[in-house]
Amino acid sequence: MRDLATMHNRAKGQRPLNSRVPGPAEPAKRTRSLRLGPLRQEARRSVYFARRATGDAGHADLPTTTRRGGVCIHLGDALNLYSRWPAPTVIISDGPYGLGSYPGDPPTCDGLVEFYEPHVRAWSEHALPSTTLWFWNSELGWATVHPLLVRYGWEYRSCHIWDKGKAHVAGNANSRTLRKFPVVTEVCVQYVRKVRLRAPGAEQPLPVREWLRYEWKRAGLPLYLANRACGVANAASRKYLTADHLWYFPPGDAFERLSAYANEHGRPEGRPYFAVEGRVPTAEEWERMRAKFNCLFGVTNVWRHPPVNGAERIRFQGRPVHLNQKPLKLMELCISASSDPGDVVWEPFGGTCTAAIASLKLGRRCYSAEIIPAFYIIAARRLREYNVGRGD
Ligand SMILES: C[S@@+](CC[C@H](N)C(=O)[O-])C[C@H]1O[C@@H](n2cnc3c(N)ncnc32)[C@H](O)[C@@H]1O
Repeated sequence: MRDLATMHNRAKGQRPLNSRVPGPAEPAKRTRSLRLGPLRQEARRSVYFARRATGDAGHADLPTTTRRGGVCIHLGDALNLYSRWPAPTVIISDGPYGLGSYPGDPPTCDGLVEFYEPHVRAWSEHALPSTTLWFWNSELGWATVHPLLVRYGWEYRSCHIWDKGKAHVAGNANSRTLRKFPVVTEVCVQYVRKVRLRAPGAEQPLPVREWLRYEWKRAGLPLYLANRACGVANAASRKYLTADHLWYFPPGDAFERLSAYANEHGRPEGRPYFAVEGRVPTAEEWERMRAKFNCLFGVTNVWRHPPVNGAERIRFQGRPVHLNQKPLKLMELCISASSDPGDVVWEPFGGTCTAAIASLKLGRRCYSAEIIPAFYIIAARRLREYNVGRGD
């Protein structure tokens, strides 16, 4: 039998979660509640409810991994798990917002860079050129962490606004006192890897756009011949070898034609041209040099979706057990847009592990981590009991 607080302690490598989490029947002392603020009080209650909901009286024999199909949820600190997980095609980060909304979430955005730095470093080490990162946060949290992501080679692609709608305002904000309009949004920001490739004679690895142009010129070929190579009037020189912002990543067949032409007609002494680690990639290998994107018709960067409610919301005695449960639909959207069946999804900050459930539905392999045992138990139960056919 292991004590849950001790397990949390061990999972996190820190002081245990205080086992005296105040519940509704045991309100926090007034002075303390004033200091914690309503959101943090709510967070402590949420852990309390999660513990009650799991029938956890503080003791249980917990398996530290729960599996179903290709989906795997771990109890523990994601930092200790990354090296055991296969390389991801998708990373869904829904970690701290700097709101103190659960134990471990820094009370302000000031603590976010310090929190995320080891995670972002690990994501960068394990990512593939085709990996997409979806970074969920508040607007300010994202702005705070963005320079860190860029420093570790993540390239901004698009910012999606989750608009929860006006109903979310109810009792939530007093605009006159706060002197600002009510906030009903979060952001989910899409990043891809900034891929750089080595070229003979270049001092440092070049971004793909520059590398393509560099290799073509190194072959001693004028740009217009790229059009002959690809069998087009002017699209190849205009799109694939341009130095300006109108550049397009050449699809696999265009890359194959460009590289074959350069290696056949280019200066013999410089061969091979367009080689990556000594070998010219095939069309299929070339396609894996960029993030996947499955275009979904009718989707924009504004996602209008109410906060999780009704049967989807995981509750105990009528109260949500996790404040931050994300809509399954939005997790499905991220995953289906950036991966294919069989691909690997990472969910380092699991909570109720909504990305794991979305992965189960969509036939992706998923690796999730949750550091707080009570939340892990809820997520594990959710995974075991989820009815894929019925969708609940
Ligand atoms: C914002 S919530 C995630 C909510 C989740 N997307 C959902 O739909 O339920 C973040 C979760 O990450 C967990 N967490 C924070 N740091 C962690 C870490 N280093 N490793 C694993 N889990 C962590 C927290 O305990 C919290 O439950």
